[in-house]
Amino acid sequence: MSRIPLMAGNWKMNLDHLEATATVQRLHWALQDANFDYDKVEVAVLAPFTDLRSIQTITDADNMSIRYGAQDVSVHPDGAYTGEISARMLAKLSCSYVVVGHSERRQYHGETDMEVGEKALAALGGGMVPIICVGEALGIRKAGEHVAYTLAQIDAVFSELGPELAPRAVVAYEPIWAIGTGEVATPADAQEVCGAIRERLAELYGRETAETIRVLYGGSVKSANVAAIMAEPDVDGGLVGGASLDPEEFARICRFGEHVA
Ligand code: PGA
Repeated sequence: MSRIPLMAGNWKMNLDHLEATATVQRLHWALQDANFDYDKVEVAVLAPFTDLRSIQTITDADNMSIRYGAQDVSVHPDGAYTGEISARMLAKLSCSYVVVGHSERRQYHGETDMEVGEKALAALGGGMVPIICVGEALGIRKAGEHVAYTLAQIDAVFSELGPELAPRAVVAYEPIWAIGTGEVATPADAQEVCGAIRERLAELYGRETAETIRVLYGGSVKSANVAAIMAEPDVDGGLVGGASLDPEEFARICRFGEHVA
């Protein structure tokens, strides 16, 4: 079963809409110059809400193959929820993806697995693909409980989704100690947990379905380390933070297949 790898740039709270336009253009040019084949690797940027209309406009106008999405979504369909953005609003801007449950949202906004599951459901209901983030903090890894902890997050989040919608989701394993720290997990570390996630998905939805669900790794991914991580059998792409803000570097990451591992 072949899964098309996904390289998704999580811009976090960086780049205003003018910078976003320039960054997407430069990414497009860098990939075009390299004769990049988007059928072999899917490329997406996950941008602040205020950038999405500009990104839609430029990708449409220049017929780009770069996909895009948001970094969060409301659990509510509409109504008196000041400051929130609904799945319908994001779908209207032709977003393909929505990040849900990023560790920064769990940490700074107290998001629980249940809420993350509801957000994933909202994204799926809007016809978008949720990128469901899971992963352990350093203390849990040091205690050797990282696999059990991450699988408990998978169980809790996926229990909110029905068996029909769940297989449409993407999972991103992001050990918190590797995010923005330059401390990258080894390829074997990434494989250990991504493989365990796939096993759990097989228990939940059957082997055939589990083989179709993409499991990404995130945490200090760069062009220098991406090829070795991507060589692991259960790693189907990257959720790339800091390195995705530099479009030439992100293009090199998307071209991981050309690097020597
Ligand atoms: P990083 O962030 O690549 O800067 O470590 C990854 C993420 O938080 O998605």
